[in-house]
Amino acid sequence: MIVAVDGPTASGKGTIARALSAHFGLPHLDTGLLYRAVGRQCLLDGGDPDDPVAALAACAFSEGLLLDPELRSEATGGLASRVSVHPAVRQALFERQRSFATQQRGAVLDGRDIGTIIAPDADVKLFVTASVEARAQRRFDEMRAQGRPVLLEAIAADLAARDERDATRRDAPLAVADGAVVLDTSQLGRDEAVAEAIRIVEAAR
Ligand code: C5P
Repeated sequence: MIVAVDGPTASGKGTIARALSAHFGLPHLDTGLLYRAVGRQCLLDGGDPDDPVAALAACAFSEGLLLDPELRSEATGGLASRVSVHPAVRQALFERQRSFATQQRGAVLDGRDIGTIIAPDADVKLFVTASVEARAQRRFDEMRAQGRPVLLEAIAADLAARDERDATRRDAPLAVADGAVVLDTSQLGRDEAVAEAIRIVEAAR
């Protein structure tokens, strides 16, 4: 069984994908991490993430960064969003994602284009979303809990900018895939959202 989980930043898709992976005993790939590693590598190389040549060059060495703690930061998320615009970068990361999706045991992948491009043949497609306000509040709470000083308004502005870039890029824009079930988590707690996702997968497989 292939489960595709797509959605915008901080919608809860990562939490849901991890929970589905544990519940159904399927390996999980967080594809955002691949783009984050490319963005971070590009920064470390002193390259311009908006330059397709520099961004593509960063792909070759990005795998060495997959355990870098900086990968999860907001700043790296912004870099990921910039390098992910380039078709050559998306192409370079395609095969790795595709072979993960088609391994025999099945898989859960989360990202932006899993149900549309990477695994259009997925058995179950989920599009996890939430209002900008709800997503910004979650990020804010997370960062405050880590003792990091942040402004709610700044997070909301960042999220909105990233959404805009992800949804309007020409190649593989964030979109609800054909046949995807939309799960809006704005009003749901973590456990409720996970339970709902499990129910959707059970019903669809
Ligand atoms: O999901 P996450 O916030 O880790 O993704 C970081 C960025 O990587 C996204 O904003 C998006 O631009 C890009 N991305 C993508 N396609 C994916 C996963 C992530 O373009 N499948």
